[in-house]
Amino acid sequence: MRNISLVFERIAKPISVALVLLFSVSSLQAQDAKEGETIFKANCSSCHKVFGKFLGPELAGVNERRDEAWLLKWIHNAPSVIASGDPIALELDAQFPSAAMTAFPQLGEGQIKSILAYIKAEEEKKATADAAGGATGVGGGAAAASGDASGFMIVGLVAVIILAFVVILVLNKVIRTLERVIASNKNLIPEPVLVEGPKKDYIGKLKKLAKNKKLVFFTVLMLAIFLGSAGWKTLWNVGVHEGYQPVQPIKFSHQLHAGVNQIECQYCHGGAFKSKNASIPSANVCMNCHKAITASDKYDGELSPEIAKIYRALDYNPETMEYGPNQRPIEWVRIHNLPDFAYFNHSQHVVVAGVECQTCHGPIETMEEIYQYSPLTMKWCINCHQETEVNHEGNAYYDQLIAAHEKLKKGEKVTAAMLGGLECGKCHY
Ligand code: HEC
Ligand code: HEC
Ligand code: HEC
Ligand code: HEC
Ligand code: HEC
Ligand code: HEC
Repeated sequence: MRNISLVFERIAKPISVALVLLFSVSSLQAQDAKEGETIFKANCSSCHKVFGKFLGPELAGVNERRDEAWLLKWIHNAPSVIASGDPIALELDAQFPSAAMTAFPQLGEGQIKSILAYIKAEEEKKATADAAGGATGVGGGAAAASGDASGFMIVGLVAVIILAFVVILVLNKVIRTLERVIASNKNLIPEPVLVEGPKKDYIGKLKKLAKNKKLVFFTVLMLAIFLGSAGWKTLWNVGVHEGYQPVQPIKFSHQLHAGVNQIECQYCHGGAFKSKNASIPSANVCMNCHKAITASDKYDGELSPEIAKIYRALDYNPETMEYGPNQRPIEWVRIHNLPDFAYFNHSQHVVVAGVECQTCHGPIETMEEIYQYSPLTMKWCINCHQETEVNHEGNAYYDQLIAAHEKLKKGEKVTAAMLGGLECGKCHY
């Protein structure tokens, strides 16, 4: 019997090692693509889409179109590649005369490779989605695409479970045969007698299977992993509103105002530079322009119905140019909303840390209607805090901190006041 379990171990070990390897390799790739997606959205999505031309060329297929060394050089510093007279670069630049790719000196080789991995992953995702959509004949493509990497994980898991099942059945058969061979060699038991009987005794077989401890253990384990991962995923997505895009009372377009007309974010969201809240502009701010801009050329000389809504909110009469008494605020639907127990301060991130609005809110200047771009989960905040270096040059707060640190090193007294404990904002909102 010991020999047999040795055989079992010998076969089982390489199989499990191979499975673990397979899993870790595929999850590593998924991680690269995930990192690449973040970098892509922050740096590239204002000009590129993976599928379809935008301000720059379509990026799907670029891994095949160009070799990697060229891509690394190009993405790191496109203007210098063009300046060097590289023929591919010159041709590309000529194809896109109205825009030019900026340099990304801050991106390391690893990060650029992650972007390329992300592009490849998107291509594969689309290929599977297309195949699925084609096979069912329904527009299943979109659904499959939104399933993202965890969909693959679950399919993978099911495949592993089935594989493990088959392996166990085969091994069981092998063990039984071996046992029989050994037994017959030692003449301990007679040749198996072919007994006539009910051949399809499924319940009996099931009972036998249920007695197989290894099999029962494996099945329970796999079931636990499967249910656990599905439950884990569901729980993590509770309260996450990524992509949230409510209908707004006025069709206000950031693409038109911040994009085409290049109005600075600060003009309407000045709060983001001064305080905790970015704030939504009041209708009076709109009137700075919309007293005069009526967009009437689009409506046969009539006032735009959307701009009329601003006038109505202010009870403004364009004929007499007077404001009436029945004013009420425009009821914009709030999109980004942290729970009350989380404190987030815009000016600290925008002014002190120097983070661009787009890093957190996405390519706002291209959005016809705003949607929530980032998940706004605690994990999201924490990840960024772990990656982002603080900007301490010329920052009085950090100078103070360094001074306090020097004092501590010399054994001198440091009070809470020296760490900013007298600043009004530390205790007051
Ligand atoms: C300001 C707009 C802009 C941004 C931002 C931008 N690109 Fe580009 N990209 C272009 C344009 C335009 C071209 C075409 C060449 C040219 O005119 O300079 C291009 C070309 C490319 C090419 C070559 C495509 C081909 O068919 O060979 C790649 C690859 C590329 N960009 C990747 C990226 C990546 C990755 C990022 C983000 C790190 C990025 N780009 C950010 C505008 C941009
Ligand atoms: C002309 C005024 C104006 C300009 C310029 C402007 N915005 Fe806005 N923004 C608004 C108004 C009005 C709303 C509320 C309606 C909406 O959500 O579309 C808003 C909403 C938003 C929201 C969503 C707020 C929420 O409810 O969570 C974000 C984020 C935002 N703006 C970011 C920006 C950024 C970034 C820029 C610069 C690229 C910018 N805005 C430029 C007027 C402006
Ligand atoms: C700095 C000037 C400026 C400010 C401030 C401004 N807009 Fe505009 N807005 C424009 C311009 C320019 C257009 C384009 C007009 C055109 O297409 O003829 C426009 C167009 C629009 C349109 C589209 C009209 C249509 O039917 O095509 C709407 C709606 C609009 N603005 C709403 C707002 C609201 C709401 C605010 C305040 C939150 C606001 N705008 C603030 C300059 C401004
Ligand atoms: C570090 C990430 C980050 C950056 C950078 C950032 N925001 Fe925000 N923004 C958020 C978060 C988180 C919320 C939700 C805040 C809440 O619910 O308390 C938010 C909410 C908003 C809102 C709606 C609610 C409010 O505070 O009035 C607007 C408008 C807005 N941001 C505009 C901007 C603009 C404009 C910029 C650039 C000047 C900017 N944000 C930069 C993360 C960011
Ligand atoms: C784009 C990256 C980024 C994201 C996303 C981000 N932060 Fe920050 N955050 C920073 C940086 C950088 C600083 C340091 C600023 C400084 O030097 O004071 C900071 C500082 C802070 C501080 C002050 C810490 C201290 O010791 O004074 C708080 C509080 C904070 N962030 C909360 C949040 C919350 C809450 C979220 C998520 C809703 C968030 N941040 C998302 C980059 C980010
Ligand atoms: C160490 C924390 C701390 C700091 C720093 C601080 N305050 Fe206060 N402040 C408080 C507390 C606590 C109260 C409430 C006391 C009470 O209700 O008796 C308060 C009350 C006040 C009030 C009275 C509010 C009212 O409703 O009666 C004002 C005004 C005020 N603070 C302004 C300031 C200003 C301006 C600064 C900066 C120069 C500042 N505080 C710094 C803790 C602080």
